[in-house]
Amino acid sequence: MSAASVDIQFKVTPAARRTPAGDRERILANPGFGKVFSEHMAVASWERGAGWHDAVVCPYAPIPLDPGTSVLHYAQAVFEGLKAYRQQDGRITVFRPEANAARFRRSSRRLALPELPEAAFVEAIDQLVGLDADWVPSAPEHSLYLRPFMFASEVNLSVHPSDAVTFVLIASPSGSYFPTGVKPVTVWLSEDFSRAAPGGTGAAKTGGNYAGSLLAQAQAAEQGCDQVVWLDAIEHRWVEEMGGMNLFFVFDSGPKPRLMTPELTGTLLPGITRDSLLTLGKDLGYEVEEGRITVEQWRAGCADGSLSEVFACGTAAVITPVGAVKSASASWQVGDTRPGAITMRLRQALVDIQRGAAPDVHGWMHAVPPA
Ligand code: PLP
Ligand code: COI
Repeated sequence: MSAASVDIQFKVTPAARRTPAGDRERILANPGFGKVFSEHMAVASWERGAGWHDAVVCPYAPIPLDPGTSVLHYAQAVFEGLKAYRQQDGRITVFRPEANAARFRRSSRRLALPELPEAAFVEAIDQLVGLDADWVPSAPEHSLYLRPFMFASEVNLSVHPSDAVTFVLIASPSGSYFPTGVKPVTVWLSEDFSRAAPGGTGAAKTGGNYAGSLLAQAQAAEQGCDQVVWLDAIEHRWVEEMGGMNLFFVFDSGPKPRLMTPELTGTLLPGITRDSLLTLGKDLGYEVEEGRITVEQWRAGCADGSLSEVFACGTAAVITPVGAVKSASASWQVGDTRPGAITMRLRQALVDIQRGAAPDVHGWMHAVPPA
């Protein structure tokens, strides 16, 4: 049987006492991003030789870890991020969970972790979100952010692919990733640090990529910037992606607006929002392209007006306009620094599908069965 088709059933044990509705509604009114969690979680264990076992959905609780647990030392771990949305008719849908399940498997392969079958990834979501359905917010920019992750749980300090692994899925009712909402962000071009190099782990969603980015993010904040933009590790000229988002460049001086996003070279994360916007851009009649852009071309395009909009995209950040760029040697504005018309049109098209306000012609929305 292939890993994709192994059947894993989650045994569901609901919490004996549920959060009173009034307390839950108070939390949902202003959840922030990734700070509060629903009442349950899904957990499954894997051991070399035995495979996956003990899959449960149980009350949300701390995970006790022996100080010798491998992940605490060598960071063998992967994660995902996706969202469940409350539809206008009350149903709950999740955006492209099969795509996240496939990326989770690819990340796991790169980190020498076992591959969780895609059906089990989606089943964990169905069971957890079905049970915690009351935690899916209905406010326009709010959703239930889902965070599947997997880590080396073997207690052993020798460096080797772990013989024991734990998979966990938690859910966090969340609002906008940026506290300022859809306001354009200012970005810092990191010229002295690199996020990922050829042959490294840049295309995998693994915590080490983020840990290595934090000093550059702190540098960005010192410069008054909201986010870091990463350049290629060899020439430090080619634009790759942002802290936790992919980038799109809008050229609006030809007969048709043209959207360009940096091609997947193996050093950037293949975003599911990025992939969806390549399709939606085409649907809206734009030219779309996976290509390359240098920092100098970015600056020159903004100066001569051929590059009219730049935006970042990702599950947490949705679509966020980039209003200004800074580096150690230069700074410039993008367009008139206000959210661009094409950026906002794409954002609306994406959000409308996710919220059920537009037809799901690409079959992206997965309906969560009621518990
Ligand atoms: N790039 C990085 C480094 C990210 O962390 C993310 C967020 O998941 C993305 C891009 C966007 O990916 P997605 O659209 O699948 O959320
Ligand atoms: C996501 O968008 O889901 C991410 O994982 C990015 C992270 C910075 C929150």
